[in-house]
Amino acid sequence: MKVVTTIKEMQALVAREKASGKTVGFVPTMGFLHEGHLRLLRQAREENDLVVLSIFVNPIQFGPNEDFSTYPRDFERDQSLAEGENVDYLFYPSVEEIYPSSTSVKLTVHQRTGVLCGKSRPGHFDGVATVLVKLFNITMPTRAYFGKKDAQQVAVVEGLIADFNIPIQLVPVDIVREKDGLAKSSRNVNLLPNERKQAPVLFKSLQTAKEQIERGERDPKVIRKTICRMIEAETDAVIDYVEIYIYPELTPLDQLAGTIIIALAVKFANVRLIDNIILTI
Ligand code: PAJ
Repeated sequence: MKVVTTIKEMQALVAREKASGKTVGFVPTMGFLHEGHLRLLRQAREENDLVVLSIFVNPIQFGPNEDFSTYPRDFERDQSLAEGENVDYLFYPSVEEIYPSSTSVKLTVHQRTGVLCGKSRPGHFDGVATVLVKLFNITMPTRAYFGKKDAQQVAVVEGLIADFNIPIQLVPVDIVREKDGLAKSSRNVNLLPNERKQAPVLFKSLQTAKEQIERGERDPKVIRKTICRMIEAETDAVIDYVEIYIYPELTPLDQLAGTIIIALAVKFANVRLIDNIILTI
């Protein structure tokens, strides 16, 4: 595995590999790798000749009061995990390399962002879209892998790729969970011990909602209430949102039908967690 820190070298390496007919699977991350990221790398490894992993904590997708400075980082550990997954190139640029000076073009994502995390994190998806266009142009992949853990991100990237005719195949990958159901996240390390014990209730509440739907409930308000009650009763977390939308359009619905997402975000003392399930009714 080769660690690459400059844009110029990364582009030259991929261009050379692609000229010899190789396919490139790209996994963009912010590092502090866990089993969720590794699942994306494994699928990329199976489906492509080359695997490129990027590790870049993207400052412009964090709000002023968010956790950019405390976002967990451990490059050495990440490097050995990436080696274990047979990654070919690890792109690890500095902030100055990606954002050398003030830019003249800024992307604004104006659909699929007025709800869920887009609503509580204004500008977040503009920052995600901007860095991804840069990373796509730097790594020039055949396929790009994204986890359904960030289902709104998948929906936004789908729109980005379609709107800008980016010749990349988007591959969404299922959520990887701990044994107790908690969705794996780099941020889980910031949970206090009692919060870590409570956190599996998030997935449990989504499962209960799913069972209620399977028994015939079709009113989104009833489902929402079930989830909120469970989280309020069994955790110290403050609910940011519990919402149900048509997926991937993220438009509202009166009756549960078609493909829907039930998504939630809660705030514990030092960490905000998200989770979701996507169901076809
Ligand atoms: P990051 O939070 O590091 O996540 C990188 C990728 O790993 C995302 O596609 C995310 O959905 C996926 N992922 C995280 N936890 C997962 C889990 N438990 N199961 C499956 N996949 C999981 O998402 C970002 O970084 C950034 O916004 C980025 C796309 C890199 C742009 O900066």
